[in-house]
Amino acid sequence: MTKRRILVTSALPYANGDLHLGYMLEVIQTDIWVRFQNMQGNECYYVCADDTHGTPIMLKAAEMGITPEELIASVSERHQADLSDFHINFSQYHSTHSDENRYFSELIYNRLNDAGYIKKRVISQSFDPEKEMFLPDRYIKGDCPKCGAEDQYGDNCEVCGATYSTTEIKNPRSVISGAVPIEKDSEHYFFDLPQFEKELKDWTKAGHLQEQVSNKLAEWFDQGLEQWDISRDKPYFGFKIPGTEDKYFYVWLDAPIGYMASFKKLCDNSDLEFDDFFEKGSDTELYHFIGKDIVYFHALFWPATLIGSNFRTPNAVFAHGFLSVNGQKMSKSRGTFVLARTYLESLNPEYLRYYYAYKLSSKIDDIDLNLEDFKQRVNSDLVGKVVNIASRSASFVVKKFDKELSKVCCEQELYDEFVAASSEIVGHYEDRNFGQAMRSIMKLADKANQYIDDKKPWQLAKEEGKMQEVHEITSLAINLFRVLMTYLKPVLPEMAEKSEVFLNVDSLNWDDMKSPLLGHQINKFKPLMTRIEDEQIEAMIESSKG
Ligand code: 2FM
Ligand code: ZN
Repeated sequence: MTKRRILVTSALPYANGDLHLGYMLEVIQTDIWVRFQNMQGNECYYVCADDTHGTPIMLKAAEMGITPEELIASVSERHQADLSDFHINFSQYHSTHSDENRYFSELIYNRLNDAGYIKKRVISQSFDPEKEMFLPDRYIKGDCPKCGAEDQYGDNCEVCGATYSTTEIKNPRSVISGAVPIEKDSEHYFFDLPQFEKELKDWTKAGHLQEQVSNKLAEWFDQGLEQWDISRDKPYFGFKIPGTEDKYFYVWLDAPIGYMASFKKLCDNSDLEFDDFFEKGSDTELYHFIGKDIVYFHALFWPATLIGSNFRTPNAVFAHGFLSVNGQKMSKSRGTFVLARTYLESLNPEYLRYYYAYKLSSKIDDIDLNLEDFKQRVNSDLVGKVVNIASRSASFVVKKFDKELSKVCCEQELYDEFVAASSEIVGHYEDRNFGQAMRSIMKLADKANQYIDDKKPWQLAKEEGKMQEVHEITSLAINLFRVLMTYLKPVLPEMAEKSEVFLNVDSLNWDDMKSPLLGHQINKFKPLMTRIEDEQIEAMIESSKG
């Protein structure tokens, strides 16, 4: 089989705050897929970056009395520490506020402009006369024009659910200064999306999207595509639009270009060729993992931007659903809006990696992190089933047989059955049906435990002349454990590493697993994973409150 060359991205987290468990769902999903691809012998790169531009970051920095550059530098450090502690293994983590991103944003804009895809026209918008800045909708509050509820956001009412334009709201106030906004004209730059209607329709129907997503797109096409406003007036934290003095690229224009910028940075530090992955017609593969809330940007604006600037388009955009905790939207008052760091202070990252894997499919359905189910699932599957196979067998091999596995495989058929499950498990991983993959693996784990239960090596060990049998049974169990840990390695890299030490092998991999370790020296068994205790979950919820 020829080696595939693959570039994968996760959506770039916004640099105005810390990461939470919702974003971890996305990076864990992506990371598992990337690790799986590399284990299959493919050449798979994973890039990401902080998304650093826009009004919220500019205002937050001002509020903190620091520069936006200082803010994004400190956020980036915390993001990367969280991601690394969850074992997210990027080939490159970069920033959209980088030379590479400025270069590609300008290049793409200039190409779009030269090709006639940028249009200019004057629009009127709310303006804060005190702060002297245009106000995005979420920076205006007032009374709902429908039900009169006070203190509602500029574009929708949380009391009656009405949506409206910012000009309709009664008693409008700028959230920033409290001033009454005025209407002000300014020239804006638009990306002429409707010119791409035909190509986008073809692209969205050509198997690059999940079925539920392409259905959504069909609705958007029916509503008609509109030109996309890609400029913002000063003051703004971002890149200036070439040829202007006071216009900036809207953050969403340069955010996906950040995928390219991060990959360019990787190329500059290695012998990878940028063009191999972004040139039109290249035979490498490009995939974007995203949340379903940003499909519009990734399945319409982004491919159109790439087509219009003569780059390749992605092979696929993979969307996942939203995360709920205990069946409800994450909430600060219930303590279920959990930051990645808060989780890490109480719990092992691999518990969550496994639980998310267990819940994930290729669909965009929402995913619930039910904390009771989380505890039971992890304790029963990982500790109760998988680790148990090794822990109950290891002591025999270590103590009675001088750490050496038997020279014969006593149940070749059973071992072969475990190896034969590979093709099914590989298929599930490839299709992002991680839940199915986990279920197949746990079925095997049940089988291995059943085998040990049936053979009862602890009883045989007390009988005369049965020691060779005990040796063979416990050695086989350890070999079955080795197959299971190979299958779980994309999900549980740290536990796999500990297993490698225990099994005394360089690296668990799909090729070696095809034959058992015979007459092989192992190491003393150390606990690979401990059970989740209620107190750990309670501590996490407590520190997330408020
Ligand atoms: O939705 C968000 O949080 C954005 N920061 C995602 C950007 S993804 C990509 F386009 F950069
Ligand atoms: Zn209302």
